Amino acid sequence: MSRERKTVNAQITGVGMWVPEKVLDNKYFESIVDTSDEWIRTRTGIQERRILEKGATSDLATNAIKNLMENTGLKPDEIEAIIVATVTPDYFFPATACLVQDNIGAKNAFGYDLSAACSGFIFALQQGASLIESGRYKKVVVVGADKMSAITDYTDRNTCILFGDAAGAVLLEPTENLEYGLQDSVLRVDGSGRDLLIMKAGGSAMPASKETVENKLHYIYQDGRAVFKVAVKGMADVSAEIMERNNLTGGDIAYLVPHQANLRIIDATAKRMGITRDKVMINIQKYGNTTAATIPLCLTEYYNAGKLKKGDKLVLSSFGGGFTFGSIYLVWSMD
Ligand code: UT7
Repeated sequence: MSRERKTVNAQITGVGMWVPEKVLDNKYFESIVDTSDEWIRTRTGIQERRILEKGATSDLATNAIKNLMENTGLKPDEIEAIIVATVTPDYFFPATACLVQDNIGAKNAFGYDLSAACSGFIFALQQGASLIESGRYKKVVVVGADKMSAITDYTDRNTCILFGDAAGAVLLEPTENLEYGLQDSVLRVDGSGRDLLIMKAGGSAMPASKETVENKLHYIYQDGRAVFKVAVKGMADVSAEIMERNNLTGGDIAYLVPHQANLRIIDATAKRMGITRDKVMINIQKYGNTTAATIPLCLTEYYNAGKLKKGDKLVLSSFGGGFTFGSIYLVWSMD
């Protein structure tokens, strides 16, 4: 739908999040792999991350939506659609969205899972917004949820220190005031990067077997250095593009809300956008990389802390496996 012909925008009217209680700090990783607190802090910005000991991604997502419902008064039967962004679904099928729908009793909702790795939330938010903009749906819940510990090899120091488990959710509703809500998005995929960040086995390309288990092919594989280079460029490129398209300068933007994979990638993106650190949402130190959950986690924490106000211009940006990358420009409409 072209921007000119829209009669409503999708606006975020509620936020919620959930993280498990168990904390793994950097010291713990010193005891299981050859690493140091200093290396992890300086190379990534991470200090600790949360791990779900019992349950699955649907439990993370369910708890985040329950928090959203507490915060907003939203009733389960009012929800019309649930989009779950995840790369760690409970099962191939049924979709995690079905399990979440049943857990919360959203008896009037349809839903589906969206697989776009670290860009999952951004892609799902645009999908949810499109449902609202179509005029057909009035209450859409978008969740980013990942139990990364389920696919992390805790003997691989290259990856195990990076990831955590969490979920964050937002409620989308229409607004006729087109100055608010989602204004624009730049979304991209580049499948030529597929081998650099991948879970190699378990899908139809390489079904599970004794060999795939023995060779640890059901875990995250990442060529960190190669992904780092393209992530810095990719995230900065889409962020710069959305600013140009909307005539925004660094001074116009209240917050950059970046995917939390590495503090150095976040800093490089902010620098390219002409934005100072105080205008960047950062919580990587507490949760690590929670894949599809990082951005809604940031939105929820900053909103709950009273740091977001009506009219704030936000740019959400991400880069992840696939490759997938994207930016969304939105104007915050909650008091
Ligand atoms: O979330 C979606 C997309 N993913 C990303 O955006 C992640 C992008 N990549 C990164 O964030 C970084 O590449 C990492 C944090 C994964 C790694 O940081 P780096 O500065 O790129 O390190 P490196 O991979 O270039 O490795 C430097 C050295 C290597 O040793 P040698 O070969 O120089 O002897 C690694 O073996 O650091 C070593 N190393 C470690 N040392 C201590 C790798 N992991 C660790 C570790 N502790 N945990």
